[in-house]
Amino acid sequence: MANASGKTPKPPRDEPAIRVVMMPRDTNGEGSIFGGVILSYIDQAAYVEALRQAPHRYVTVSMKEVIFKEPVRVGDVLSLYGQATRIGRTSMTISVKVMAERSSIPPEIARVTEAEVVMVAIGDNCEPREIELG
Ligand SMILES: CC(C)(COP(=O)(O)OP(=O)(O)OC[C@H]1O[C@@H](n2cnc3c(N)ncnc32)[C@H](O)[C@@H]1OP(=O)(O)O)[C@@H](O)C(=O)NCCC(=O)NCCS
Repeated sequence: MANASGKTPKPPRDEPAIRVVMMPRDTNGEGSIFGGVILSYIDQAAYVEALRQAPHRYVTVSMKEVIFKEPVRVGDVLSLYGQATRIGRTSMTISVKVMAERSSIPPEIARVTEAEVVMVAIGDNCEPREIELG
């Protein structure tokens, strides 16, 4: 369904925007992965989803409250799913869900967190530009 801007996001994909293996270099003093590392991957997943929706240059303008419900550990495979929920004139709101596949037998999947990211399309002068759907 079109939103107020009249721009309808493409439907979700089954596949994650990105998948990444958690490495020892990214651990905090507790042995789990730094939250900031996960935030960085959330940003990347949102960017991949923004590009899927409309090919522009984008910058991140906001990331709403992110609550980590489960720890992420070395060896976990993170899957980050992105879906645009609103496409405005120059900005796009993207919901990102983060799942961790534990390296355990049998495999265990943990819902780590969700985030709402707003990305803004920019032009040559780095000013906001209108999003044109492909
Ligand atoms: C993003 C940026 C280009 C916006 O510039 P601006 O002059 O404030 O833009 P505008 O006020 O015209 O807003 C542009 C769009 O962003 C949205 N926006 C601006 N601030 C926002 C905020 N805090 N939260 C959500 N959306 C926001 C506006 O609603 C507008 O969307 P719309 O056109 O779909 O209605 C500018 O703030 C910037 O360059 N920020 C740094 C971005 C960056 O470098 N990020 C990487 C991390 S360092």
